[in-house]
Amino acid sequence: MKSNLILKINSLLIDLFLILNIFQIVLSQETSQNVHCSTVPFCQRLMHISESKIPLYFMDNKTIEISGTNKDKNNIFKAMIKNYNQEYINDPIDLELTIYILKRGIFRIKIKPKNQKRFELSKEDDMFNIKDNIKSSGIKISNGDKNTVIYYFSKKKKIKYELLINQPQFQITYKVDNKIIYFINSKNLFDIEKIGKDFIPSETDSMTSIKMDMSIPESILLTGLPERCGSSILSDTNYNWFYHFYNIDVFKFDYNQYNSIYGAIPYIMSFSYGGTIFSGFYWNNPSETFISLKSTNEGKQLVFLSESGIFDFSFFASLNLKHYYKTMNEYLGQAPIPNIFSIGYHQSRFSYEDLNEVKSIDKKFDKYEIPYDSIWLDIDHTDNKKYFTYDIKKFPKDETENFFNDMKEKGRKIVVILDPHIKVDNWYPIYYKSKNNYFIKKADSTDFIGKCWSGDSSFLDFFNKETINFWKNLIIKEDNYFHSGVNNIHIWNDMNEPSVFKIPRNTLPKNTIIKYNSKNYEHREVHNLYGYFMHKASYEALLEKYKNKIRPFILTRSFYIGSHKYSAMWTGDTKSNFDSLKNTISMLIALSISGYSFTGCDIGGFAEEGNINLYKRWYQNGVFYPFFRGHSHESVLRREIWLFSESDFLSIKKAIITRYNIIPYIYTQFYLNYFTGMPIIKPLWFFDKSELALTEFADVEYFFGNGILVRPVLNEDEDRNNKINIFLPENERWYDFYDFNEIDQNKKNKKIEYEINNEKIGAFIKGGEIITKKMRLRRSIKKMKNDPLTIIIALNLENKAEGIIYFDDEESLEYKSGIYSILKISYDNLEIDFEWSKYNFIVNNNIEKIVILGEKKELFNKKNIKAELFMIKNSKYNLETVTDLEHNRIEIIRLNKYKMIDIQKITFK
Ligand code: NOJ
Repeated sequence: MKSNLILKINSLLIDLFLILNIFQIVLSQETSQNVHCSTVPFCQRLMHISESKIPLYFMDNKTIEISGTNKDKNNIFKAMIKNYNQEYINDPIDLELTIYILKRGIFRIKIKPKNQKRFELSKEDDMFNIKDNIKSSGIKISNGDKNTVIYYFSKKKKIKYELLINQPQFQITYKVDNKIIYFINSKNLFDIEKIGKDFIPSETDSMTSIKMDMSIPESILLTGLPERCGSSILSDTNYNWFYHFYNIDVFKFDYNQYNSIYGAIPYIMSFSYGGTIFSGFYWNNPSETFISLKSTNEGKQLVFLSESGIFDFSFFASLNLKHYYKTMNEYLGQAPIPNIFSIGYHQSRFSYEDLNEVKSIDKKFDKYEIPYDSIWLDIDHTDNKKYFTYDIKKFPKDETENFFNDMKEKGRKIVVILDPHIKVDNWYPIYYKSKNNYFIKKADSTDFIGKCWSGDSSFLDFFNKETINFWKNLIIKEDNYFHSGVNNIHIWNDMNEPSVFKIPRNTLPKNTIIKYNSKNYEHREVHNLYGYFMHKASYEALLEKYKNKIRPFILTRSFYIGSHKYSAMWTGDTKSNFDSLKNTISMLIALSISGYSFTGCDIGGFAEEGNINLYKRWYQNGVFYPFFRGHSHESVLRREIWLFSESDFLSIKKAIITRYNIIPYIYTQFYLNYFTGMPIIKPLWFFDKSELALTEFADVEYFFGNGILVRPVLNEDEDRNNKINIFLPENERWYDFYDFNEIDQNKKNKKIEYEINNEKIGAFIKGGEIITKKMRLRRSIKKMKNDPLTIIIALNLENKAEGIIYFDDEESLEYKSGIYSILKISYDNLEIDFEWSKYNFIVNNNIEKIVILGEKKELFNKKNIKAELFMIKNSKYNLETVTDLEHNRIEIIRLNKYKMIDIQKITFK
């Protein structure tokens, strides 16, 4: 791969790196997120190798083997790729290429060296669903001298998916309807390192890196690559700043387009050919990864660099977003519908320390009549930061059990923190049982010890099946919080990058050792998967603990591709200022479009003292985030909302109540996410690709579900002046979320100033959609279960609207066996139709009110509008209505006398 000269330069640069690294240790407490390519040996080495005119890797077409599973037997393509680089002339690298030809235009490509041990997940742990997506018919493969072409037409023969494998020079082109979507190895940068004879692997380098380039022609926009605190729209990288993936704990992270933070989803989405083709690309490599991006006349040029492991990438493309996300959902796996409590309000702080404190917080919620669904126990509730224990002096056993049961009575839950670091203490059973067994080891086979909250600690090896079982049993069998009878406890997995204090880059040294399927690997090879394996184990344990009857709720800080199947995530240690609030929007957009919908952030920001204006505005925005938890650092003033002045308290309480009012709408959005894969948070540019939507407003407005467009208050001026700039797409009608007033037609498609007030931010109902609410004030969501519904029907430009309401038992897994019901409501031509498109779950709710927004027909200008209700069994009733002529609004009231399941239609005369 390298000439001698390059090797020499490399060794000099590595020396320089070591010096820089020492410098970095000094800085690491504050700036460990700032990792430039030039300070990481493999990246620094490979980034110097620019476009190569001479092809280095060749595919031998005599080695092609086509095999497969299912009837067709031709859905797996294999061949050998050889490297004839000067340096390895006597010992060429042989690479095995495997291509899985999957349904819906998905292809997965794996390339790995034949005779080298490299980390690869087993089939059992694979985060992609190959088995159910194998294409079983219609594949055509033609072998020519210059290339092999694999293609098929989609079911309705509307789209042609094609993969062209060039030979002998190894290059792959992916085409949809003859348009090139990806051109892999177009610049001949595909490469794999092979450890030289004299090289000794160290903490900072292993000489095992891989590299690949790819062009995306005609791409108008790239997005994705979470988790970063930067714009959701990807911009070009430069000499030093590459998109970086190396999960780390960064306290109070700042805006930076490229830095990695706690989680990694190396996934890129492109809109190509004028936005007519959407394509997704996964680079599945859990070792440290850098991605560079350059916009050129030939399209977007990307280079992927990973420190070790194999090449494993997948891609797919669609002509519309619906098909695109369905494909992603099937390939990546569905996010479960959450236990309904977890979409309510969560109260947390670092830390509520003893039972009296926890109880008094809970009491205050009742006293001030604020609904909430769970209280969180952060690290200080433990006995000396020993997880799974609590100090019985602070939490007397019987009283604690009683409290947990009282919470249950009120429909509320407890969420306890479980971190992966285990205090080195021979009197701590979890430690002495894990010692020499379940921990990550140093190269000399002794347990690695590093600092974290519990002082000297060792770190559970969540790659090791025995550790996973040990962990699961702590949750399933041990008599800790999870004692028998209590089933309202859920889990928070924090610090799972994993975070190690006072060490370069705040995480495990790369040369520590993990065990996976009985083989040892360096941590370097698996780093970004650590958090994933931990929260997956917690999820599976809770599932078993609750005998598959209760949906577990897990919150994780670190994550990887596929984490959405097990956990919600939050954005970690944000600062308490308006910039951080703003940053969470682009962060959540990027996560959501990448398949992670159950996301949120600490309401109010985590660290530093904010002010009441910020807290109020953050709560008002948090109403529209999928995960809604107030949390703060131990060093800042208490922020429980009753501590604020009465008027501020009332504004925030109102925001929390607003969240509870729209729970039926939110729950339906989670069902849609589960069923269709469509993200819950959606960027504005999903609907409107005009200039402002793609630039100024791209990261400041977002859709919450299908029907609500949100523009939060983002600075002190906006708060003080009660004015914000908004942008509303032209081809729709918009109604103010709070007062239902329609926005003037000529205010659309441009930046306009919009007046808000202390109790509202910018939030708009999209015409054509239906928002379902429950208006009764209760202690928790569980207590709202059978409450009547209020349905808001917002008409579109054609005076129509339609939507669904999803119902199930809200906490078990029965929905997975189809035990749920869906009510479809549509409005057209002065008639509301109700249709149960599925009725497998008995629904006990009625409708109490229907509000129709924006009907412009003459009828609504009359005083006495008559609404008639038709029940399934032919009975007819006159309904009471209230009209607001000024606002084109009509309300049908007192409907709850009629059984919702029997309503067929409502008409107007
Ligand atoms: C770091 C987390 O990000 C924060 O939310 C938590 O309060 C502290 N760890 C203490 O557990």
